Amino acid sequence: MSTAPEKRTCLAVILAAGEGIRMRSSLPKAMHPVGGLPMLGHVLAAAGKAGAARIAVVVGPDAAAMRAFVDRRMPEAALYEQHERLGTAHAVLAASRELAAGFDDVLVLYGDTPLITAETLLRLRGELAGGAAVAVLGFRPADPSGYGRLIMVGENLIAIREHKDATPAERAIGFCNAGVMAFSGVTGPALLGKVGKDNAAGHYYLTDLVELANAAGGRVAAIAADGGEVLGVNTRVELAAVERVFQERSRAAAMLAGATLLQPETVTFSHDTSLGRDVVVEPNVFFAPGVTVGDGVTIRAFSHIEQAKIAAGAIIGPFTRLRPGADIGAGAHIGNFVEIKNAVIDAGAKANHLSYIGDAHVGAATNIGAGTITCNYDGFSKYHTEIGAKAFIGSNSALVAPVTIGDGAYVGSGSVITEDVPADALALGRARQVVKTGWAAVRRAKWAKKTT
Ligand code: UD1
Ligand code: MG
Repeated sequence: MSTAPEKRTCLAVILAAGEGIRMRSSLPKAMHPVGGLPMLGHVLAAAGKAGAARIAVVVGPDAAAMRAFVDRRMPEAALYEQHERLGTAHAVLAASRELAAGFDDVLVLYGDTPLITAETLLRLRGELAGGAAVAVLGFRPADPSGYGRLIMVGENLIAIREHKDATPAERAIGFCNAGVMAFSGVTGPALLGKVGKDNAAGHYYLTDLVELANAAGGRVAAIAADGGEVLGVNTRVELAAVERVFQERSRAAAMLAGATLLQPETVTFSHDTSLGRDVVVEPNVFFAPGVTVGDGVTIRAFSHIEQAKIAAGAIIGPFTRLRPGADIGAGAHIGNFVEIKNAVIDAGAKANHLSYIGDAHVGAATNIGAGTITCNYDGFSKYHTEIGAKAFIGSNSALVAPVTIGDGAYVGSGSVITEDVPADALALGRARQVVKTGWAAVRRAKWAKKTT
């Protein structure tokens, strides 16, 4: 009897044991980032969103970085090692302990195909819920060579023929295997055990499940995905193509959620960038991971923002750099060539020009003059600068941490502040000005005498 996918149990097996040799990298292929997150992270997220109660990742030998990433990102996921690369069916069987648990649905995903969506995975699960034994995701690439061809008879998929094994007539088929597959957790595992290696590569092909399921009287469905979603990565050129699609998706999602992007194609998002409503983003802004932007914020051109929070109504940029731990309060203004790191800037404070604020707290409505620097590092340790509310820091001041400036205090321009300044005081930490009346005129007169 068929039930809706959400009522069925689901195991996702993610294959990531490929050596990724064409990436020419010391990093395993699935660890290369898209939108600032390893590809494997995108696939883990899609599997989770598609309702997988259990996720198993199959890695190759020497995959320490990948294991560490999975442990961090999704500690509840199981890791299995495929010792030898003997094909995709062999890789799924590395997780046979999970298959034995008898899930209703099993999804097989590739670690190097990161744009797959939960919606598409749920469509595959829907086919199983409707009684199919196996459901395969197909697509129509511009150039099908290299892909497995889907051999359809009417609505039924009867076989997948790998390019290497296909006849010329089969090679003429444009409908190809995207690599994502769902099979019944009840009948599939036994069929997997029957997969042989009678093919050109001498590998155990997961795709053989299609013919085996047909032979056992099961129905096999194929559904079509759009090409962007199933783009796989074997080289860094393909990685860039995937990144392009990811960025297009992210920009569209941001705009549909209520942000204005003046030149969307110049704005770079990360997987977790969160923009509120009525945010305006000017051209050439880069959102590294970990950024949250509140409603009504304007981010002006050429700003670089990473692990930072920006509250409602703030104005950032142009040319601002917000580094990890920058926490910008409501309505604050952070302007050109201002760098902020690990610092809380309270509501309505302003640092508009040429400053470095690091390891600091700036109180509400305080004004930080042009060229102010918090000297937070003495070559050994970092120290905190505390600035109260409604304070005024004159231009070109150096605040040597640890140091506290009280509420409402003033610091004269050009000061080097090494001692605490009480509330409402004025601190001057610079040489007193000396004026010598008439000095310049006397000097000019001397020179005039010498040269005549
Ligand atoms: C596979 C499909 C092909 C499909 C294509 C789509 C098979 C037999 N063929 O071919 O029909 O058109 O994907 O891109 O499934 N992997 C392991 N262990 C192995 C072998 C592979 O973990 O022993 C992993 C790889 O890391 C990769 C995925 O499985 O993530 C697919 O393997 P790959 O060698 O890229 O298969 P294709 O030849 O591309
Ligand atoms: Mg491949």
